[in-house]
Order: sequence, then C-alpha cells, then structure tokens
Amino acid sequence: MKSLKNFLKKFTFKRVGITLVVIFVVMQAFRIDKTNPPIDQTKDFIEVNKPSPEIASLIKSGCYDCHSNETVYPWYTNVAPVSWWIKDHINEARRHLNFNNWTTYNSKKQDKKLRECVENINEGDMPMDSYTWMHKLSDLTKVQQKVLTDYFNSLRTHESGEGKPKK
Ligand code: HEC
Repeated sequence: MKSLKNFLKKFTFKRVGITLVVIFVVMQAFRIDKTNPPIDQTKDFIEVNKPSPEIASLIKSGCYDCHSNETVYPWYTNVAPVSWWIKDHINEARRHLNFNNWTTYNSKKQDKKLRECVENINEGDMPMDSYTWMHKLSDLTKVQQKVLTDYFNSLRTHESGEGKPKK
C-alpha cells in the first residue's frame, strides 16, 4: 500500500507532461515517405479524357492529393502522428482509385470507379472533410458537385450497373 502511495506521489502533472513531450519528440524520428511513385502521363485520367480546364482543375485540386501519385505534402505532414494518419489516407486512397493509373483499369472497373465517384461526391464523402478543413478551396460547392458528377456520369458505360438510386 505504501509503495503505491509513493508511486502516485511521484505521478505528478509535471512528470506526465515531460513524458508526453518525450514521446512526442521520439515520434518525430519516424518520418513518412514522401517520394511520389513515378507517373506515366499516358495512363492518366485527365490526360486521356481531356476534360475542360475548369473540370480538370476541380479534380486536380480536390482529388489528386490522395488519389494519384502527384501528392503535395503541406508542412503539417512533417508532424507525427498527424503525418502517419495522412499517409495512411493517401495509401488507402491510391489503393481504391489512382487517377494516374486510369488506363490500367479495364472498362468495367473504370465504370465502377466513375459510379463510385458520383456517389461519393453526391453524399459529400469526397473530398474527405478532414481534407477540406485544411484545403478550403477544395470544398466543393453544390454547383461544382453537379459539374463534376455530370462529367463523371458522361463518361460512364454502365457496365457496372446503375448504382444506388439518387436520394
Ligand atoms: C484526403 C484524401 C482524399 C481526398 C482529397 C479524396 N479522397 Fe477519395 N478516398 C480517400 C480514402 C482514404 C478512400 C478509401 C476509404 C474510404 O472509402 O473512405 C477513398 C475512396 C474513394 C473512392 C472509392 C470508394 C469505394 O467505395 O471504394 C472514390 C470513388 C473516391 N474516393 C473518389 C474521390 C473523389 C472523386 C475525390 C475528389 C472529389 C476524392 N475521392 C478525394 C481519400 C481521399
């Protein structure tokens, strides 16, 4: 009992604070890899489909930081653990959909990805909220959402089915 009391006595806010600072500093040693994989422009969604400059810029600024190998890493991606969390999103996003590798998807898969793009934009899931907090310009207005979903829909072949009915 006595030793527990002694232990708790030592467990002051100051010690907790120092421990947290030490943990934070040690975390900074584990940096994320920011080298973007090479890009073959001949396989790129925008290069191949040639949308209008307005649409191309909406897709580039709203989606390419995660869904391509053209990620731009802002200063806070130097700070762990935020950096780990962001890198995780990028890896996951590229795995689901990488606009740079568009022509490597067969036409049914392309159609499915287009359908998912429309659904995700309509539901306000993409671009992710955590992204638009820091990238205000990428927060799509209703008009921009419509421009983008109309465009994605116009490329569809409907091989992957119709998708969810619109709410
Ligand atoms: C901050 C990073 C980020 C941005 C920006 C972003 N996404 Fe995503 N996206 C993700 C992640 C992470 C996933 C996978 C996890 C999930 O489904 O939520 C994903 C998944 C997807 C999927 C696949 C969903 C599925 O059901 O498999 C589509 C389609 C998609 N995003 C489209 C877009 C479009 C279109 C934009 C731009 C308007 C965009 N995303 C912007 C991170 C992002």
